[in-house]
Amino acid sequence: MALVTTKDMFAKAYDGGYAVGAFNVNNMEIIQGICDAAGELRSPVILQVSKGARSYANHTYLTKLVEAAVAENPDIPIALHLDHGDSFELCKSCIDGGFTSVMIDASSKPFEENIALTKQVVEYAHAHGVVVEAELGTLAGIEDEVVVEAGQESYTRPEEVEEFVSRTGCDSLAIAIGTSHGAFKFKPEQCTMNEDGILVPPPLRFDVLEECTKRLPGFPIVLHGSSSVPQEFVKMINEYGGDMPGAIGVPEDQLRHAAELSVCKINIDSDIRLAMSAVIRKYLAENPGHFDPRQYLKPARQAVKDMVAHKMKNVLGSVDKI
Ligand code: G3H
Ligand code: 13P
Ligand code: ZN
Repeated sequence: MALVTTKDMFAKAYDGGYAVGAFNVNNMEIIQGICDAAGELRSPVILQVSKGARSYANHTYLTKLVEAAVAENPDIPIALHLDHGDSFELCKSCIDGGFTSVMIDASSKPFEENIALTKQVVEYAHAHGVVVEAELGTLAGIEDEVVVEAGQESYTRPEEVEEFVSRTGCDSLAIAIGTSHGAFKFKPEQCTMNEDGILVPPPLRFDVLEECTKRLPGFPIVLHGSSSVPQEFVKMINEYGGDMPGAIGVPEDQLRHAAELSVCKINIDSDIRLAMSAVIRKYLAENPGHFDPRQYLKPARQAVKDMVAHKMKNVLGSVDKI
């Protein structure tokens, strides 16, 4: 099968009470790890490329690697998506260059400007058979060059979603309900301590999600900033020379619940970064004489695969949904 759009994926996910994982890709090992997991578990998957990934790895290299992943996994629905497109020109370049889905993220602009830019991208994308994700509300954290300080984020206003979707014609909508980008999603003072001494972050705003769902019945919702920051990897990074005190993510059970509702796409990047960095740090500390990149990239690729398989089984619920 060739690359697909997310249209059928989302329709099936909505009806089936699961979500499709959207994983950020930057190099060959990440693409292989993700697609090996999807292939073995017969799960649909979205490979997403940020502006930063595109300037790091180059559009042609990334699309050719994705083409190889599609050839190696002919039964698996794979979509190629632009993550956080910030201009019409960037979206157009990805649409012209073979992507099947783009995000136009004008969420930091005033409502009317967000509508105008999103609509412009939708018109071009739909004319070329490509689907569009848009965003309303602002997440805290860092995405490409945009930094939103914790406390400056704003939840999506459910009273705006119907007008936004009907005026733009977008195909899915990212909303802000308390997730954020990166590995430091919550300050310790926002969290409570459970009986095992583990910090528990504040719950996501399911009331906002439910209100958006009521106003947009059957419409696919997207959650960004959905890494859970596994503490085993934070510990490994800190044990082997890293310094990431207080890294904390979104509890997986909350994401599982969101996937059962109207959330059809869940974005995960930081967890892959953490898994790779932890495993590479450990490998090099234990094998100080090794210098062949294949030696440490092999366990790193396996860690990506294990991480993605875990998400598909325990968070997304997307196993055997091709
Ligand atoms: O939301 C941002 C993604 O994690 C991509 O990050 O812009 O550093 O590639 P990046
Ligand atoms: P995380 O930083 O939580 O992995 O979020 C990734 C993301 O939303 C990419 O768009
Ligand atoms: Zn994001």
